[in-house]
Amino acid sequence: MSALRAQVMRDLARARVRTAALTDLDDAELTAQHSPLMSPLVWDLAHIANQEERWLLREAAGLEAERPDIDDLYDAFRHPRATRNGLPLLDPAQARRYADDVRARVTESLEKCEFDTDLTRDGFVYSMIAQHEQQHDETMLATHQLRSGPPVLFAPEAPRTGHPVEADEITVPACEVEIGTSIDPAALDNERPAHRVHVPAFRIDTFPVTNGRYLEFMADGGYDRPELWSETGWEHRLRAGLEAPQFWTRQHDGTWWRRRFGVMVPVHPDEPVVHVCFHEADAYARWAGKRLPTEVEWETAARWNPVEQRSTRYPWGDVDPGPEHANLGQRHLGPAVVGAYPAGASPLGVQQLIGDVWEWTSSGFEPYPGFVAFPYREYSEVFFGGDYRVLRGGSFGTDAVACRGTFRNWDHPIRRQIFSGFRCARDIPDTPDVADV
Ligand code: AVJ
Ligand code: FE
Repeated sequence: MSALRAQVMRDLARARVRTAALTDLDDAELTAQHSPLMSPLVWDLAHIANQEERWLLREAAGLEAERPDIDDLYDAFRHPRATRNGLPLLDPAQARRYADDVRARVTESLEKCEFDTDLTRDGFVYSMIAQHEQQHDETMLATHQLRSGPPVLFAPEAPRTGHPVEADEITVPACEVEIGTSIDPAALDNERPAHRVHVPAFRIDTFPVTNGRYLEFMADGGYDRPELWSETGWEHRLRAGLEAPQFWTRQHDGTWWRRRFGVMVPVHPDEPVVHVCFHEADAYARWAGKRLPTEVEWETAARWNPVEQRSTRYPWGDVDPGPEHANLGQRHLGPAVVGAYPAGASPLGVQQLIGDVWEWTSSGFEPYPGFVAFPYREYSEVFFGGDYRVLRGGSFGTDAVACRGTFRNWDHPIRRQIFSGFRCARDIPDTPDVADV
């Protein structure tokens, strides 16, 4: 039990160190609306604390609300992001004090927690709140990417050594796999329950699609050929004036550079493309004679061990991610080149499924059979059946607590301020059964 308590404290503390670094800006920057797509950073800060107060103090520990008066301000469903800086929000000093107060009371109440209720068993609700804070930290990282002005975030360059591979596509034979989980203590409601799915044979790219390949698509008129786009994708491409991934600019000499957290860098041909929307990914795949994978195909590539006939938590097995496995946790401020993480390969040989860039899939966001909303409908259930597409695998800005082979993210197909890329898949043409030959 005390090992669980220590784990909970470590995960919460790591999230708070990151939150503090992402909000280490002057008050004007914290209260500014850097983009209509994002909240002011000070809203995320107090929202993180308010969710922690609600779930860890009120619901899990049965304590009285500290600030019931501000619940409404930090309810994401009451106020769209673009309107939040017009609200009477806590100022940065008040928000920090509120977050510190809540955390101090959580630390105290955790001493008495027996981990014996539906919410607290195996530390679930504490993990949920650590994940929630890290998810908002990734959102704040996207706000940093959108803000203008001199850089304030720094990190070592992501790995630049790409180890060669035998094939750029992997064949996955037809299989009967376990998708989702019923036993992972950190799994959120939409990852549950585990269920068997028959997956027809398919091929999937060994790596996410790189900038170099994406530039070939652009050079081949990818943005000007409606036949490569879905109808809604083409409408969006025209309306939004898309002609390259977000944050890219073409220099006078014809080369492409991109703005990365306030610094201009050349577009590296071997890094996974990032900041593309679903429609751009979908058009690229059609240009390549392929398609996007379904989320079941993605999860099969990431978790299925055909030798042991079981699904693992990560592509490399069940051990927690280390720096040799994946580019996670904002250790770097961008994706690593493809081939940088051979130790993170799945048993099938697919690489960089976890970390680097979120990967668009062709799947809408739907409940698994037997889904039960827990502990609140607004985490997943209210989003099912919308126009969302599922993204898998996490990015360089995702913390390890909020990333695993079963984790499901989702967003509107036009969004690209998130750290989104993709890989392609394709059907295998019908081959005669061995017995028929
Ligand atoms: C799962 C990333 C889509 O940020 O909108 C944060 C996570 N839910 N607070 C989001 C979330 C409530 C969510 N995503
Ligand atoms: Fe939230």
